[in-house]
This record gives sequence, structure tokens and C-alpha cells, in this order.
Amino acid sequence: MSNNDFINKADRPVGFFDSGFGGLTVLSKVSKQIPEENYIYFADTLNAPYGTKSIRIVKKLVFKAAEILVKEDIKILVIACNTATGAAISDLRRMYDIPIIGMEPAVKPAVLDSNGKRVLVVATPLTLKEKKFKDLLERVDKDNIVDLLALPGLVEYAEKMNFDETEIISYLRTMLAKVEMSKYGSIVLGCTHYLYYRSMLKKLLPPGVKIIDSTEGTINRIKNIILENNFGAKRNKGSIKYIVSGNKVDDTEKFQTLMDRAEEESGGK
Ligand code: DGL
Repeated sequence: MSNNDFINKADRPVGFFDSGFGGLTVLSKVSKQIPEENYIYFADTLNAPYGTKSIRIVKKLVFKAAEILVKEDIKILVIACNTATGAAISDLRRMYDIPIIGMEPAVKPAVLDSNGKRVLVVATPLTLKEKKFKDLLERVDKDNIVDLLALPGLVEYAEKMNFDETEIISYLRTMLAKVEMSKYGSIVLGCTHYLYYRSMLKKLLPPGVKIIDSTEGTINRIKNIILENNFGAKRNKGSIKYIVSGNKVDDTEKFQTLMDRAEEESGGK
């Protein structure tokens, strides 16, 4: 490979994928921390939500999405979606030879830091049912201190760009009434869409309950993969290109609004 080929390879974009807008909560941070890279974000808005579908259907959708992004000549694929990761990451890794980074609920750090309190994991119904997640629980929750709660409504709200506090707090209050919140020391956000509602959730949690997510871990893995492969961009402008499957959203302005919202929410961490 000539030096020029090598630079061209390094300058290929980093591909991001989510069922819809959830992955923007990750991309907003990644693009700040690694600004020299170009990004392509694919939102499968036509088929969102994934979390209430069957694993068979979600697998098919994720394969299609990966194909679209790989055609864009990406150098890394980031599946910024816990549900899609659980359903399809092992297959994808067999299908493609580019590095593929997935996301899973940050149960391990939450358990390690639990201090005698219980841990509540909130994620989509499908994530909580998936074998990958069950295996993770079996590995890290030896003392059975983890409880699970699905919050599918939050994905619907985020996809509609609904951030109405009264409505969403009332939804969250109803859902959290299903568990005894005083038992928990932390809550793990196991769905990228849920990060848009961090501050609303915080208002409902007893003081001292930690909100944990896996965004930073994902960013570190992206940085490491770029370093290990020595393919950090050399002459990119740090652009972001958006692709959507449906025609629900076709303007960059909406993505920017969501990226701003995601950044605001992570500021209050
Ligand atoms: N954002 C996704 C996740 O992290 C999936 C949401 C959905 O489509 O149900 O799990």
C-alpha cells in the first residue's frame, strides 16, 4: 500500500448506527472528543422502535443498516444502540472485517460500585430479553442485586422529538412506581434514547442515586481502535453526514437540535 493509499484509508468516515435518534446522544460526545474525524450517522427512523420488535426482525434491519454504511466506505462501525448490538453484533463481526463497536448496559461498573444497594437497569424490552444481556447479567450479577425495567415509551417520545416535561415526568413516575426506588443506589441507562431524559429522571430519583451509562466506555473503545490501527484521520474537516431510512426527518437542522439537546443532558451528569 502506498503512503497515499494509507492516508486515504485513514480518512474514511466513522459510521454510526441507531434505530433512530438515540445514537446522537453518543455521536454528540464523540464528535466533540474526536473532532478530526468525519462521521456518517444512519438513523433507521422508518423502522424505529426496535426494542418492541422480535429479535428476528431486528437482526434483519441491522444487517440492512450495516450494508448501507459499509457501502459508504466507513473504517469503523459504531452500533450506538444496545438493542441492535445485542441482536446482531456477533453476526456482523463475522460478516465484515472492519472493527465493529457495540454498546451494552453498563451493569458491571454499577454492580462493582453498588455499596450494598441494588442496581436498576432500564432498557428496551428486547435488550432485556436478549441472550447477550442475560449472559452479561450471569457474569457480573453474582449476588442478584440487579433488577430490570423496560421504558419503551421513552423511545417513542424521543423519536417524536417530544421533550415535554409534564408528559414525560408523568410517564416516568408511573413506570418507576413499579419498583421500590429507595432500594437502589444506581440506575443504568441501557438504551441510548433514554439519555435525552437524564435530567427529568434525576428529578424523580431519591437524592444520591447515581445515573450510569456506557457512553464514555464506547468513546474510549473508538479512541483505542483508532490508535491500535493507526488510522486516525489526517486531513479531514470533521464533518457529519446524516442518512435516514424514512422520510420522517430529512433535514440536518433537526439532527442539530437533537445533538444540542443530547449535549445539554450530558452536561448535567
Ligand atoms: N436506541 C436503542 C437502544 O439503545 C433502541 C431503541 C429502540 O429502537 O427501541 O437500545
